[in-house]
Amino acid sequence: MNEKLIISGGRRLEGELRVTAAKNSVLPLIACCIMSEEEIHIHNCPQIADIFSMIDIIRAIGGSAELKNGTLSVNCKYANPQLVTADLTSSIRSSVFILGPILARFHYADISYPGGCEIGLRPIDLHIYGLKCLGIKVTEYGGMIICDGDNKRGGVVELDFPSVGATENIMMAGTLGSGVTVIRNAAREPEIVDLQNFINYLGGKVHGAGTGVITVEGVKSLGGGEYTPLGDRIAAATYLTAVGSAGGRAQITGAQPELMYAVLEKLKRAGCEITELNDGVRIVSSGKLHAVHKIETQPFPGYPTDMQPQITAMLAAADGTSFIVENMFENRFKYTAQLIKMGANIIVKDRVAVVKGVKKLSGALVAAEDLRGGAALVAAAIGADGDSVITGVRHIDRGYDKIENAFALLGADIKRVIEN
Ligand code: EPZ
Repeated sequence: MNEKLIISGGRRLEGELRVTAAKNSVLPLIACCIMSEEEIHIHNCPQIADIFSMIDIIRAIGGSAELKNGTLSVNCKYANPQLVTADLTSSIRSSVFILGPILARFHYADISYPGGCEIGLRPIDLHIYGLKCLGIKVTEYGGMIICDGDNKRGGVVELDFPSVGATENIMMAGTLGSGVTVIRNAAREPEIVDLQNFINYLGGKVHGAGTGVITVEGVKSLGGGEYTPLGDRIAAATYLTAVGSAGGRAQITGAQPELMYAVLEKLKRAGCEITELNDGVRIVSSGKLHAVHKIETQPFPGYPTDMQPQITAMLAAADGTSFIVENMFENRFKYTAQLIKMGANIIVKDRVAVVKGVKKLSGALVAAEDLRGGAALVAAAIGADGDSVITGVRHIDRGYDKIENAFALLGADIKRVIEN
């Protein structure tokens, strides 16, 4: 059933909002549960489509997974890799990192090539290279990836690029069994540190996450228990940019400010007043912002690509011209065509968007075509003059748990309706 968001823009935002656990932390943690034969409870989980898809994968391979009142209970005692079917893993990108856990526990995996998505091809060559460094035989044939981990051992992996998913996959592949795995040029994202903490809580031996060198010492097995993942720094930053453009004052908690420094710095340069709290951020904005000369997306701790559309939407109605450079994905400016329908003045050439700020955006009928671009359109519509209709809400639901409720809590006039 298609749904759309109806937004009446122009209101200032006021209020307090607490974000749940980070989508990009919970997804690898769910995959990690495959390595344990005991019950595991993951708290503060958002009810979002990508998590439901991972739950489907756990159930389809013979595990149990139940999300109730924000706690996800997973038990993979009866998981069986023979049940991993092609259509199952082609459904979401995140499925690629079930490879590592399945190989760690069962030494065999056979999954379909995860498709690309709206923002890019999403190759997995670094994942495959890393698994091969651990002695795993990988055959790619007919859209399938067949991995034979009978000779799985420790190894040294030198990543060409600090890929988040590849780092997570290799960390998990090295978690069970003998040998030591060293990952160099590893991704440093906070979600990688969260995965290390989770693996160690369950009985694993990983250290170095957050630096460029991660060492994983294989152990015999993992136990169970309960864990509360990291708060969602991207969701929190999304709400901050919306307050920035709409104007107002808000307190966004549940994600530590030090994990958002790159975004907070740009919000300050644009003219927002930012106060760091111990588990969140207070923002005050006049709604009249100025341009930020240049924003370049980088691996953590640089400016996060997952916050590129949101800050572009905010600067589309700022005073002056901003240059946005998207270094991570090849197709992450699609949403700008929708912002232009709202009156934005943006020119995109390859990986660069030149954003010439206009006085105010105006409401329009726009279409969300990917997760973070869709969230950016919601923030833009809230700060715009007049009414907007946003279709393609399913893209936004992949990563935000009822985004309309969050913004309504901050005073926005927004509702979800079924598209007739
Ligand atoms: C994770 O994706 C996140 N997803 C993405 O968030 C995020 O944008 C990305 O990291 C970067 O921070 C999850 O954690 C589920 P990468 P991932 O491997 O692991 C290239 C969102 O909106 N690459 O660090 O796929 C790749 O093409 C999503 O929440 C290879 O070339 O990101 C891209 O250009 C979007 N070969 C770059 O690296 C590989 O084998 C970054 O990819 C793997 C990646």
